[in-house]
Parts: sequence; C-alpha cells; structure tokens
Amino acid sequence: MKQDLLTIEDLDRKEIEEILHKAKEFCERRERNDLRGGVLASCFFEPSTRTRLSFETAMLRLGGSVIGFSEAGSTSSQKGEILEDTMRVVGSFADVIVLRHFEAGAAKKAAKATKTPVVNAGDGANEHPSQTLVDLFTVWISQGKIDGLRLAIMGDLKYGRTVHSLVKALSLYQVKIDFVSPKELTLPEDLKEMLKGKDVACSYHEDIEAAIKDADVVYTTRVQKERLQGEVLHHRYVLKKEMLAGCRHNMKILHPLPRVDELDREIDHTPFAYYFEQAQYGVPVRMALLASLLKKEKI
Ligand code: CP
Repeated sequence: MKQDLLTIEDLDRKEIEEILHKAKEFCERRERNDLRGGVLASCFFEPSTRTRLSFETAMLRLGGSVIGFSEAGSTSSQKGEILEDTMRVVGSFADVIVLRHFEAGAAKKAAKATKTPVVNAGDGANEHPSQTLVDLFTVWISQGKIDGLRLAIMGDLKYGRTVHSLVKALSLYQVKIDFVSPKELTLPEDLKEMLKGKDVACSYHEDIEAAIKDADVVYTTRVQKERLQGEVLHHRYVLKKEMLAGCRHNMKILHPLPRVDELDREIDHTPFAYYFEQAQYGVPVRMALLASLLKKEKI
C-alpha cells in the first residue's frame, strides 16, 4: 500500500478489498489498541461532520490520540501561512494527517511537503477517497457483492468529489452505471473517457425514474452550491418516495450526506433507505484504513 491516500487510484482492487474485510472485523470488534501511542492530525479547512468525526473516532477506538482544527479561521493560514508550511510542521507532530481543503490538489501539495502519511478527506471538487471506501463497503454489505450490480448515480456529477472517487473505484468492478443529472452538472469528460476506455457499461439520463427502476443501488448526491461557477440549474433533482414504486425490492439508496432537499425525508422510513447505516460505517472503514496505513511499527 502507498504511504498516502490522495486519490482512490492509490489503491488497487486487492488493497481496497483488504480494507473492506478489515472494516467488517472492526464492525464486530470496535475497540483495538493497534495504534496506541499514535497521533492523528485532523486538519479541516472546510466544514465537515461525518468525515472529521468518524476519522477521529476511528483513531480513538484504535488507541491513538487526535490533535487538530475544524476550521481554517483558527489556524495561522489566516496570517498568510501557506499550506505546505502548515503541513510540514503538523507532520513533524503527528503520525498521520487527515486533510480537508477547499482547493483541488491540496492533498497532493500537502504530501509533497511532509514525510508523514496524508489522507485526502476531500479536496475541492476533486476527490474524497475515504468516502469511496465507505460507499463500497456499504454496497458490499447491503448487496453481498459489488460485481454484477447495476448502480444509478444521481445529482451533482460535475462537482461531487464523492462521485469522482466512486466512479474510479467502480471501474475496477464488473458493474453497470446509469448516471442521472441535469445537463449542466454531468460527469466530467475525463471520467467519461476513462469509463469508456475500461469498457464500463454506462448510460446517461436526465429522467430519474427511467434510471433507477432497474438499479440495485441508487447513489444520490447534493448539488455542491459552494462550487457552482455560474451554472443555471433548470431542474431540481429530488428523489421522492413515489418514484420508488417500481424499483427492485432489495434496492438500497445511498447518500454520502449531508443532504439538503434532494432526498425526500419520507424515504427515511422505507426499506430502501440505507444512508444512515452508510454514515455509521464511516468509523469501522476508517479504522481499517488507518490500521492499514499506520502499522504499529511505524509509530
Ligand atoms: N460525506 C461527507 O464528506 O460528509 P461531511 O462533509 O459531513 O464530512
């Protein structure tokens, strides 16, 4: 396994599956002392609830400690310090850095500035690879497999960093993907080309119901309002309870959360809803990731 997790492409399928299997063990046995004495630096320059708190919980459950900050405003970046200097110093304190930043490429920049492992916890509209591990784990646990599934991925495919990482990971599996979005927020061309090059069966839709009726998994996402660059959205993509009438009985809906209004709350009480379980899996999956990145002998 590479030293850093900057993109999901830093892991091959075998490494991903080792983490998923380890996460399953952590679901059953939550307390472990694998990383006792280790320090995780939780560096969040952008807001987060799930990613930050699940990484911190994961480190604490593994017997380690956590330092860090949850907003840029309390750091010396406000005095003009550049990210590389901050990361160099924090890396000299900690055994692993978990970094969320508003700039695409920030995690790569951080990894160049320090020898300490860096985990990308979301960099602008680029990637969010640890979320993908959570997403794959949730798909695997809810459906018993990943190969052979049909997934509908809907919402903000252009700026949704969870989608970008997930699509790269799914290209390692035998899956069919139906993408659903307003045309202003379609998947970036480089990802479309990548999928074509790997012969992944894909189709692109604007109509939600047509795309979800044969899906095993519907992965919904929030429009990343904070990243829009003047796009005018003519349709609001909202998944409503009544749209689920003709869906497969074992279909599960995932969402990386937070949701705003794209996922009707009435769905929460249906057997299709699986997004709160997905969020809960953030802890065992990130325990598995940290344990894999930071073997005890490295601390
Ligand atoms: N899924 C996710 O990244 O959530 P947060 O922004 O709350 O960390």
